[in-house]
Amino acid sequence: MNSRHFLTYKGTFVTEEESKELAAQLRKPTGEAGHTVAGLMNKGNVLLNRNTIDLIKPRASMHIVEVGMGNGKFVEELFQKFPDCRYSGCDYSQDMVNESQSLNMDSVNKGVCDFHYCDTTQLPFLNNSVDVIFTVNTIYFWPDVDLVLQEYIRVLKPNGQLLIGLRPEHLMKHYPFIQYGFNLFSETIIESHLLEQGFGQIKSHTIREPDFVTEEFTMPVESLVVTAHKK
Ligand SMILES: C[S@@+](CC[C@H](N)C(=O)[O-])C[C@H]1O[C@@H](n2cnc3c(N)ncnc32)[C@H](O)[C@@H]1O
Repeated sequence: MNSRHFLTYKGTFVTEEESKELAAQLRKPTGEAGHTVAGLMNKGNVLLNRNTIDLIKPRASMHIVEVGMGNGKFVEELFQKFPDCRYSGCDYSQDMVNESQSLNMDSVNKGVCDFHYCDTTQLPFLNNSVDVIFTVNTIYFWPDVDLVLQEYIRVLKPNGQLLIGLRPEHLMKHYPFIQYGFNLFSETIIESHLLEQGFGQIKSHTIREPDFVTEEFTMPVESLVVTAHKK
């Protein structure tokens, strides 16, 4: 596989500069390029997001928090699946918070949905107050995995559920942009961090997606969703 042809949002050829720019935008989508990359992420990550949402264990009137929702494209699907839930989206890109608010204005106006400009290590929720936390394609950027998991433990209710959706290391390592600030994870490593931080009922779910096919190569795609519960 020629990884230089793998992914670009400007044409078909990825230069070093484009890879670097793409990595920065995936980490924190900002401005016009951020808007474009958010649209691309929606297309490329739709199944991973759905696979993660499908693993949420329903509870009556649950408060669901998503960290790193990008432009909030999948919030509508979440409400279709869990009509009586309350949703809070958290992201440290102000532009993504603004886009998410516009895209989900109806739910925001109904008072069942809100968005917060914040970091994953400092969530604006009380201790033991949230039923579910899920996050898709953000773990690569966490400053410290254990610190983030401690924050999630703090805000989750006892028996609250955590879901971490990602592309696994064995596939992600072929992506050209990962050399610019991405940390890669296997299910084993994530499970051991969860165990260490006191989570229980830890389970990894690998779901095969259709191959990524271009004229030059075909690449397998998988969703990895690691689920766990606060004890
Ligand atoms: C690669 S995008 C993923 C977007 C979406 N979840 C998806 O799967 O398509 C990562 C998102 O997480 C946000 N993010 C990354 N690190 C974060 C952090 N430390 N705190 C809050 N948000 C973060 C970024 O701003 C961006 O919106």
